[in-house]
Amino acid sequence: MKKIISILLVLLLATSMIFAGGKKDAGAASDKIGVSMPTKDLQHWNQDGANMKEKLEAAGYKVDLQYAANDIATQISQVENMITSGCKVLVIAAIDGSSLSNVLATAKTKGIKTIAYDRLIMDTDAVSYYATFDNYKVGVFQGNYMVDTLGLKTRSASDPVYMEFFTGDPGDNNANFFFGGAMDILTPYIEKGVIVCPSKQTAFAQCATLAWDSANAQARMENLITSNGYGPNANKLDAVMCSNDSTAQGVTTALVGAGYDKSNFPVITGQDCDIVSVKNILAGLQSMSIFKDTRTLAGKVVEMVDAIMKGSNPPINDTKTYDNNVFVVPSFLCDPVFADISNYKELLLDSGYYKESELK
Ligand code: BGC
Repeated sequence: MKKIISILLVLLLATSMIFAGGKKDAGAASDKIGVSMPTKDLQHWNQDGANMKEKLEAAGYKVDLQYAANDIATQISQVENMITSGCKVLVIAAIDGSSLSNVLATAKTKGIKTIAYDRLIMDTDAVSYYATFDNYKVGVFQGNYMVDTLGLKTRSASDPVYMEFFTGDPGDNNANFFFGGAMDILTPYIEKGVIVCPSKQTAFAQCATLAWDSANAQARMENLITSNGYGPNANKLDAVMCSNDSTAQGVTTALVGAGYDKSNFPVITGQDCDIVSVKNILAGLQSMSIFKDTRTLAGKVVEMVDAIMKGSNPPINDTKTYDNNVFVVPSFLCDPVFADISNYKELLLDSGYYKESELK
């Protein structure tokens, strides 16, 4: 009898150990990650959100994915909800980099770690890591493209190019890097008179576009066209330096409205390889873009989340560049890739990023 009881006890113990083991895994699998994206209005944030959800779920996490309609108060309240509903890690692409200090202070006191996604979160010690593309390099690509395409190295002030400048939202730290990278390349040519900016609007604040909104860029370009008399048969405009595709699209619409077509279109830079912009590139209404494969960035962030959850070290390849006014945030910078009509097939179609039908 005693023997039977001890066999039963051993069996019971073994079964409970198996269940305990199973439960532990199930516990890890039910950990929830909050993903806060700025808006659904710009195509790439939808891709970012969807990629991250898919990859986090594949790694066994639950995901609370929210889009904040480009409204700062909405983003703050969505993040508050993520904290109260028990998210273990927050991944945030901020609408305004400086507006999350209070809500993230709460997250920090609860031991919740925050990863800044694509855009740095400023003025707080409550952000742990930053994953983005090399934003300065994006601007350098755009500046160098102007130098090569317009032959600036061999021109002089007696044969200048006429150029206007557009960048992004002042609340997005990335805009400083994009604009800074491009202007570091182009300023020497402005100083030599090889680039002439007829509006004289070359300072960041003058070139900024609220919310990166195409309509705002279009309105400013329309004003520039009127006040400087630009047109295919009027005053010459050779190029418009735009920090991204949404601003480029607004500029393109204004220029088409002023009578430009693919036979005389100014050189226009962009970034993101948005579908609309790739179509413009194919139609001769935008010159280049920058491919930032959202699958790569999302993959890196999932590695970071997983490392945080497992108590190991997230991947980091830059500890010098991104000072958020409180400290230099350990970062992972992915590589942006130059894109134009010569390589879009390989980058965007062969890699499965878009289907050919999407670009028709
Ligand atoms: C991103 C760009 C994007 C812009 C507007 C920036 O923070 O890095 O890729 O074009 O926001 O959404």
